[in-house]
Amino acid sequence: MSAIAREAGKVLMEHFQQSVGFEYKGEMDLVTDADRASERLIVSRLHESWPDHGIVGEEGSNKQSDSSYRWYVDPLDGTTNFAHGYPVFCVSIGLELAGVPQAGVLYDPTRGELFAAERGKGATLNDRPIRVSKLPTLSEAILGTGFPSFKRHTSPNIHFYHQITLRSHGVRRAGSAALDLANVASGRYDGFWEFNLNPWDTLAGVLLVLEAGGMVTRFDGSPWRLDSTETLASNGLLHQELIHNFTEIFAGRGLAPLPSPADWDRNC
Ligand code: IPD
Ligand code: CA
Ligand code: CA
Repeated sequence: MSAIAREAGKVLMEHFQQSVGFEYKGEMDLVTDADRASERLIVSRLHESWPDHGIVGEEGSNKQSDSSYRWYVDPLDGTTNFAHGYPVFCVSIGLELAGVPQAGVLYDPTRGELFAAERGKGATLNDRPIRVSKLPTLSEAILGTGFPSFKRHTSPNIHFYHQITLRSHGVRRAGSAALDLANVASGRYDGFWEFNLNPWDTLAGVLLVLEAGGMVTRFDGSPWRLDSTETLASNGLLHQELIHNFTEIFAGRGLAPLPSPADWDRNC
């Protein structure tokens, strides 16, 4: 899996250096030749090594199979960054068995970082074990989130972004959900959440967080599943506090009001 992810990362970098154009595949959902070339390569390599397994890729690959093993492939997570020349993107490949993540690799070709996890065997970054952070309080935490390209006008996340930003050291919106999860696994972030992700965004990253000692649930603390439209990941220590904050924000309690320009001016 690692060799395949590295090879796909090389394909991405070749396209990145030539500053490729993009097309729209949805309202604000971009796709480039690099997404397609990377997916073709990954799917053919997975098929060579595991011909019986099912494979689902974001760019349309859907190989049905009788096997209970299924791969989820995001050939380029962070396409918008990639298309604009912003070097934050990765390849994400995960394997599930009956809905349970078994193995995941995530390769960031801009930094040469390969994250890998296998169920019950821990998580690594470039072959060195990684652990989630030890930070216990939201007020000192740094977190990540993201916004969907689909129906983004109706996404409630901007309210969560606003509130959690005010209650922490800050919330980053780097543009690659898979890397965001890897950042939680390696302790660079203390937490991450997003609405409406797909299994190709989350499978490898969620396993990384779990194997690095963290926690992943839905926003109310109920178990995360591969088809969950809510992903809340943390170092575990912050988890209850995050769930409490999400409950409060959903209920509209304790929200910081927006100051008027005059109030803001007076308080500066
Ligand atoms: C997107 C990225 C982004 C997240 C979006 C995803 P893509 O994946 O992970 O960070 O906010 O929800 O769709 O389209 O670049 O593979
Ligand atoms: Ca993605
Ligand atoms: Ca993608």
